[in-house]
Amino acid sequence: MLSQLKQTILKKIEKAKDLKSLEDIYRRFLGRKGELTGVLRSLKDLPEKERREKGRLANQIKQEIEEKLKIGRGKFQVPSSKFQEEWIDITAPGLQPTVSHLHPITQIRQKVEEIFQSMGFSVVEGPEIETEYYNFDALNIPKEHPARDLWDTFWLKRDVIATPYLIRGKQSSRKQLTTGLPRGFASRNDGKKLLLRAHTSPVQIRYMETHQPPLRIIAPGRCFRHEATDASHDVQFYQVEGLMVGKDISVANFRGILQEFFKRFFGPEIKMRLRPSYFPFVEPGFEVDILKNQKSKIKNQKEGEWLELMGAGMVHPNVFKAVGYNPRDWQGFAFGMGLDRLAMLKYKIEDIRLFYSGDLRFLKQF
Ligand code: DAH
Repeated sequence: MLSQLKQTILKKIEKAKDLKSLEDIYRRFLGRKGELTGVLRSLKDLPEKERREKGRLANQIKQEIEEKLKIGRGKFQVPSSKFQEEWIDITAPGLQPTVSHLHPITQIRQKVEEIFQSMGFSVVEGPEIETEYYNFDALNIPKEHPARDLWDTFWLKRDVIATPYLIRGKQSSRKQLTTGLPRGFASRNDGKKLLLRAHTSPVQIRYMETHQPPLRIIAPGRCFRHEATDASHDVQFYQVEGLMVGKDISVANFRGILQEFFKRFFGPEIKMRLRPSYFPFVEPGFEVDILKNQKSKIKNQKEGEWLELMGAGMVHPNVFKAVGYNPRDWQGFAFGMGLDRLAMLKYKIEDIRLFYSGDLRFLKQF
C-alpha cells in the first residue's frame, strides 16, 4: 500500500507542468494533513516490530519524494530566477561614469606655476592667517597710514592658530619651512593681532626673512577682503605674488619676464603696458594692463581695450630694511596678480562668485 502510494506520487511529480502543481502535490501528500503524513502519524499505533519496518520504509519514501520535488522545483525555478538575476536591458542608455577634474582656479594656478618654474622661480606658500605685522607693517603700511584702507580685511581673535609656512620645490613637492606658529607670530612687533591676509604680499617678507638674495619666487594662495560681493569682488579670491631680487634687477627684467609669461599664458600676440600707480611696498609702482587682439585667448574683452591684471613695482627700500637686507646692495621687482582674474579672462567667466559657489553645472564646464 505504501509503495503504491509512492508510485502515484512519483507519477504525479513527473507529470507536473509548473511550480504550482508541484506545491499542490506536496500539500496533498506531505503537508500537515497529507496522505503520507497521515501514514507516518499512524505508525505510533502499530506494534513495535511492524512500526520499525514500516517506519523505515515510509521515511525512505518521504525522503525520495522530497528529493524528486526538489529536482522538479529546480526545473521550473532555475531558468526564471537566472533570467531575473542576469536580466539586462540592452536598449537602455549606458551610465556614464563620473570623472572628476581640478577646479578651474587650480588649473590656472598650475599653469602659472609651470610657466614661472620654467623661468627659474620657486613656488612658495605662506599662511592664510597672518599677523598685522606681515600683512601691513613690514610692507611699509604703518598703522595709521590711509593706505590700510585699501586692504580692509577680517580680524581674528587671538586664540586662532596660524597655518604652517610652506615652500614648494620644482615638482610641487611640499617642504615645510616652519611648523605651527609662523615665524614672528607671537613675538614680532604687534604680531599679536591676527587677520586673514588681504594679499599674498606678506609671503615676500616671510621668504626674505629666511633666505638671502639673489632669489626668484612666486607665491600663489587665497586672500580675503572685507567687502560687499558683486560680479567682480568676493570676500575670498586667489592671487599669485612674484618677487625677484638681485644685484641689478631692473624694470627691464620685470618687463621681459612678464612679457614671456603673458605670451605663454595667452598666446604670442599679447601686448602689455605698464602704468604708474601707487602701492606702499614698491617705488616706483605700476599697474600692468594687457591689450586684446584677435589672436589672443582673451574672450570677454572688447577689441582695443586694455585690461588691468596686476599691481607691481620695484621693491621699496623700507621693505628690504624690514627683512634685514641692505637696500644699497639689493634691488628687485615684485608683483601681485589676481588668479581669479586670469581664469575669468581665459574661460570667459563673468561672475567671480561662480568659482566659490560649488555649483557642478558651472564646474563641469572646465
Ligand atoms: N598686494 C597688492 C594687492 O593685493 C598687489 C601688489 C601690488 C603686489 C604691487 C605686489 C606689488 O607685489 O609690487 O593689491
